[in-house]
Amino acid sequence: MRMGQAIQRGRCSRPLSAARPMFLLFVVFLNLIGSSGAWNGEVPRRPRGFPARAECGADVDMDIFIDPLCPDCKAAWPTVKRLLNVYSTEELSIHIQLLPLPFHHYSYYACQATVAAARLNSSAVFPWLQTIFRYQDYFSTEATFAETTESVLERLVGLAPHAGLDTKQFSSAFYDSEVDLDTRLAFKYSCSRGMMGTPSFLVNGVEAGSGDWSIKEWKELLDPLMRRKGDSQYV
Ligand SMILES: *[C@@H]1O[C@H](CO)[C@@H](O)[C@H](O)[C@H]1NC(C)=O
Repeated sequence: MRMGQAIQRGRCSRPLSAARPMFLLFVVFLNLIGSSGAWNGEVPRRPRGFPARAECGADVDMDIFIDPLCPDCKAAWPTVKRLLNVYSTEELSIHIQLLPLPFHHYSYYACQATVAAARLNSSAVFPWLQTIFRYQDYFSTEATFAETTESVLERLVGLAPHAGLDTKQFSSAFYDSEVDLDTRLAFKYSCSRGMMGTPSFLVNGVEAGSGDWSIKEWKELLDPLMRRKGDSQYV
């Protein structure tokens, strides 16, 4: 079932052939977690994820599971931004969740950099993702194949000014062990929600939509969910 969903169009889940054994291990890992459905970590202090904008108890909550190095996530990004323009903060809240996919070999580090950006300035997550999407091709598995990890990470951290961040501060946040731990937790959280492809969407807690949906398709789903004046808060 899950495998079937993972190969839907508009999802970044196509494994590279060389990475297939790793992908299969990942699937086994997900099944182990998925079979219990349990979250074994501590209860988070706040809902997990990076809010796209100030929160104020919106009608509809959307979680978007993203891998910064996933081309399908890059392709879906303009639509995500448009959703934020179409719907007000009272109507739609969006949380970005991170799901590094192992067949994009530098994804974990790209996620770690996203957590580092959030650590420095919570408003920097969107500009940071925008930046990493823009330079995504330079961090693909193919582009980095013959390069040392040190060199790739130096280039990654060097993107900081594009997101309005100070390179030195960003570098020390990136290499902070707590940022590493939080990135692991972000990955585990996405696994606990049964996610294995990106972009994936939860709308009010259930899987819906697709990375290749147009604004029109999103509006057809979301508009009827928006509360009208006088509606009960509990239906
Ligand atoms: C945080 O990031 C936002 C968006 O890039 C920027 O407008 C704001 O000035 C930053 N705040 C600080 C304290 O750097």
